[in-house]
Amino acid sequence: MSMLLPPVLVVDDEKNMRLSLEKMLSDEGYAVRSVESAEAALELLEREEFFLVITDARLGGMSGYEFLAKVKSHWPQLPVLMITAYATPKQAVEAIKAGAIDYLPKPFAPEELLHAVGRCAERHRLLQENVALKTRALELYRLDQIIGETPKMRELRQLIQTVAPTDARVLILGESGTGKELVAGALHYHSNRRHANYVKINCAAIPDTLLESELFGHEKGAFTGAVKQKPGRVEEADGGTIFLDEIADMSKPLQAKLLRFLEDGTFTRVGGTQELRVNVRVIAATNRDIIRAIQEGQFREDLFHRLNVVQIHLPPLRERGQDILLLAEHFLKFYAETLRKRVKGFTPAAKQKLLAHTWPGNVRELRNVIERALILETTDQIQASSLPDFHIESRLRQAAHEGLVGTKPLEEALADFERSLITSALEQAGYSLTKAAELLKISRHALRYRMQRLNITLPVDTTDAEDAD
Ligand SMILES: Nc1ncnc2c1ncn2[C@@H]1O[C@H](COP(=O)(O)OP(=O)(O)OP(=O)(O)O)[C@@H](O)[C@H]1O
Ligand SMILES: [Mg+2]
Repeated sequence: MSMLLPPVLVVDDEKNMRLSLEKMLSDEGYAVRSVESAEAALELLEREEFFLVITDARLGGMSGYEFLAKVKSHWPQLPVLMITAYATPKQAVEAIKAGAIDYLPKPFAPEELLHAVGRCAERHRLLQENVALKTRALELYRLDQIIGETPKMRELRQLIQTVAPTDARVLILGESGTGKELVAGALHYHSNRRHANYVKINCAAIPDTLLESELFGHEKGAFTGAVKQKPGRVEEADGGTIFLDEIADMSKPLQAKLLRFLEDGTFTRVGGTQELRVNVRVIAATNRDIIRAIQEGQFREDLFHRLNVVQIHLPPLRERGQDILLLAEHFLKFYAETLRKRVKGFTPAAKQKLLAHTWPGNVRELRNVIERALILETTDQIQASSLPDFHIESRLRQAAHEGLVGTKPLEEALADFERSLITSALEQAGYSLTKAAELLKISRHALRYRMQRLNITLPVDTTDAEDAD
């Protein structure tokens, strides 16, 4: 990201000094403006943007120190570099105390000046970059970017709006790809902590031995490889939010340490003795069945209760009905733009295919399917043939049912199985209820009833006269 640097403002009542500073700086490529008094500088600061002010401590009218105080109260972010006539430690301290970012005693070597200016330029660039990143994140996590009009999704947006500004801990549950990370980000960026850091940690991606030092930091020499002290991510998140993703994968010993941290906000770095304290909001998520993990002794119940102040459960995509199409349109627009393809929508057959699939990978799977379809598509509408063969995929999944034993309660596994059988029958029958019912050897009425119970929706435009109720 290249960003233009605004000019440096030089304030000195000695003309020769002004000229030599101007030359030194512009030779290095900086834009420079210079004035001879604090009064003139303040006037200019009202009107124009600068990234740094260099001022002499002794000026004709208002002194450099008074000027510094005024700048600090009006533009607290603007760094001021003070030039003093002679270096006495007392003066240096005074300048820094008054808010100068640095001071230079006269006479100084050009490199000294350029070095200090370079540091300020770097700081300015980082600040700008940070602002740009935050603006992008705020944009990304706007509530209307969470697509969905089913009652559950509307409630979800409402809940985020209500809970975000509080410091309440939130536990987000839901299958893989249902949008847990999206919700966590939205919670942070709609809270009063949005200007502080948002730190994400994936507890499953970091080896257990490293996770503790990642979270809470370590002291120099705490373990082989700890060559210097490192602050923890919780310190980075101070004043902001930490998102602990895949929390159910955290080891039991670390769960105990996290519990202590949640109880009073204190922690010690690995290999350290000093008790540290931060103010961090915690949001956690998992796609695992956390109640089961507790029952099996893999997750501490007391930790669960600490995290579970507000619980958000994201429904699987197959239970969101027409939202599938809304999301598909949303991703189509996005990928059409990034891939620069003029594809406008979906054919009725493609819509049917999307609605009938059971989406085990949820929204993430849908997003990938749309991206792939857009790459393959040669017409101006997504055709059913540009979508994967879900039928074959669901049969592959059925073959894997033996592996399901012990992963789900029987009722749930049966419902999933029933859903995939019915969906396959519907696909084979070209979405005719009568034909699908025949294939399944049940009555049309019974099929309708089961579809309702399992939240299987039939695309509106497939309901032909024969099937209309
Ligand atoms: N309601 C939604 N509206 C728009 N985009 C969504 C929605 N839900 C999810 N997505 C998108 O789908 C993708 C997957 O979502 P996300 O990463 O939040 O899932 P997750 O629940 O954290 O999955 P996992 O458990 O695998 O980590 C992301 O690109 C996300 O932006
Ligand atoms: Mg995730």
